[in-house]
Amino acid sequence: MCKRAICAGSFDPPTDGHLNIVARGLKVFDKLVVAVAVNTTKKSIFTPEERVEMLKEIFRGRENVEVDSFEGLLVDYARRKGIHTILRGLRTVGDYEYESQMALANKTLDPEIEILYMMTEGKYAHLSSSIIKEIITFGGSGCGMIHPTVEKRLKQKLLKVT
Ligand code: PNS
Repeated sequence: MCKRAICAGSFDPPTDGHLNIVARGLKVFDKLVVAVAVNTTKKSIFTPEERVEMLKEIFRGRENVEVDSFEGLLVDYARRKGIHTILRGLRTVGDYEYESQMALANKTLDPEIEILYMMTEGKYAHLSSSIIKEIITFGGSGCGMIHPTVEKRLKQKLLKVT
């Protein structure tokens, strides 16, 4: 049986921390669906289409990674896909509160769903999409933190660099 899981997130933008979870997740699962949430309550700088485009570029040629997007509840999307496992990265204890709330809410909405957490590798523990946006805004380098295509698009978006 093909073991599949959904890596859902805002990915605004995707960081190397996200990519690391996908890479390591593929040691456990046969296939991962990287799913961009369209209507989160968070204010995003990239449109869902742009986020999907970036992720497709990053995972081009990887047959065991599908990039997709979804609107509405994650549990409904998972049900539509016929996948019952959600894979999330956990960075620090600061993530725990939010993640446990989300896991419990999802489990209440659909008891069939399982949410698995993978500890982020130490070198990515400080990384977040918000920190990356701040670094790029103030002229810093995203090297070792974001994929080159993400850095290029962030610079276009935030610094109006062509
Ligand atoms: O990358 P993020 O912002 O931490 O991802 C959070 C995300 C998108 C996975 C979460 O907000 C989500 O599942 N949104 C879809 C709406 C939903 O199902 N909400 C109820 C459970 S919190």
